[in-house]
Amino acid sequence: MRSHLLNDTTAEHYRRSVTEGIERVAAKLATTSRPFTGVTVDALSPRIEEIDLDEPLYDTAAVLDELEDVYLRDAIYFHHPRYLAHLNCPVVIPAVVGEAVLSAVNSSLDTWDQSAGGTLIERKLIDWTTARIGLGENADGVFTSGGTQSNLQALLLAREEAKTDTAAKLRIFASEVSHFSVKKSAKLLGLGQDAVVSVPVGADKRMQTVALARELERCKQDGLVPMAVVATAGTTDFGSIDPLPEIAELCEQYGVWMHVDAAYGCGLLASVKYRDRIDGIERADSVTVDYHKSFFQPVSSSAVLVRDASTLRHATYHAEYLNPRRMVQERIPNQVDKSLQTTRRFDALKLWMTLRVMGADGIGQLFDEVCDLAVEGWQLLAADPRFDVVVEPTLSTLVFRYIPAAVTDPAEIDRANLYARKALFASGDAVVAGTKVGGRHYLKFTLLNPETTTDDMAAVLDLIAGHAEQYLGESLDRAS
Ligand SMILES: Cc1ncc(COP(=O)(O)O)c(C=O)c1O
Repeated sequence: MRSHLLNDTTAEHYRRSVTEGIERVAAKLATTSRPFTGVTVDALSPRIEEIDLDEPLYDTAAVLDELEDVYLRDAIYFHHPRYLAHLNCPVVIPAVVGEAVLSAVNSSLDTWDQSAGGTLIERKLIDWTTARIGLGENADGVFTSGGTQSNLQALLLAREEAKTDTAAKLRIFASEVSHFSVKKSAKLLGLGQDAVVSVPVGADKRMQTVALARELERCKQDGLVPMAVVATAGTTDFGSIDPLPEIAELCEQYGVWMHVDAAYGCGLLASVKYRDRIDGIERADSVTVDYHKSFFQPVSSSAVLVRDASTLRHATYHAEYLNPRRMVQERIPNQVDKSLQTTRRFDALKLWMTLRVMGADGIGQLFDEVCDLAVEGWQLLAADPRFDVVVEPTLSTLVFRYIPAAVTDPAEIDRANLYARKALFASGDAVVAGTKVGGRHYLKFTLLNPETTTDDMAAVLDLIAGHAEQYLGESLDRAS
């Protein structure tokens, strides 16, 4: 069994095994003609259930054959141009090389004595990101597992900085289309049920600052404590960007922590054409970025950045066995002092490889391309009487719904759209997302693949219309 341990004597076994795995994936990527096979839970479950984990195959090639059957064949492939559903990007090759290196070396970024250069690389990437945001000389941050954790940590710091001991009095202000991790964070932080105040958005799906001002004033009048305003720079559904400069003004006026959730919109930090869309982000107290959404990085790769490095002390605990207090005086850089996690992946390496091979402009250009693609999709939808499209894109999402000419009942239109999404998924021809707008069911394209074309979007819209029409036809048959 020792032959499976990765060490000086097994380098050749390692090379052969990993190469075998890579060959399978490469062959898969080269031949995948649809983003999904349409396999059902019922069809796939028995194949996985019948495998006895106490009966190993003892052979990598045999296990890879088995993996074909239980995973590779039926996986959802984000690299396919007709995968248009959630905020998953196709990944860039330099980052995948980084992934292979980081898992083999297996550094843990909690302490210097488990990572050495890894710590310095992560720190440099944090500095690079804070400089791109414009957070100033005292900024800092840390890589996290994702936007949810970044938001949680930012709100933890905001809570600790808030001027009250009474958690029940604290209020967080976020737009009605902000990510649900804001509410989850409030719960995890022990705040009251009413802690998150939902601020309305306009037709453009951006937070209405007049409403925010009203809510902040009301909070003050009621003797409550505004803890944070969460501005979203790229909402999950619409890609809309809240008015950051106006929100920054209000935060300053009321002395409130400004958090910018740029999990999605952070791609604009590298943009060659559209960086100005997130102007005002530099005034934030904290920022969430998800490189695994708009920097074309494999999951996980995210960071939380703060204007004032000293606020990260709210996540600091010292343990004699890991990061004793004296190490601070000795200037030993232990990233665990800044993180909610202890053992932590060296995800930063993927971004490092990406920036060193492609450059920031290379990534920014790819993100600009998907933003441009969304404009083309918008034009397509706006000109097509079969569809209602909700809002012109700022980033790369489109929310729309099929509206059959002959049907006026909104509930029936809902059902037709729900059916179309399901049928499309079952066919595997394309994958799209769904959401609700004004209580009605809509469909969504999240465009993060520069390989997707206008023709792909047009073809998927035709497929959606076809499925919806089939549903309506059968519905008529059922009624008659
Ligand atoms: C705006 C926004 N914030 C936060 C998140 C959560 O990020 P993650 O899924 O990486 O935890 C998402 C995910 O879609 C998001 O869209």
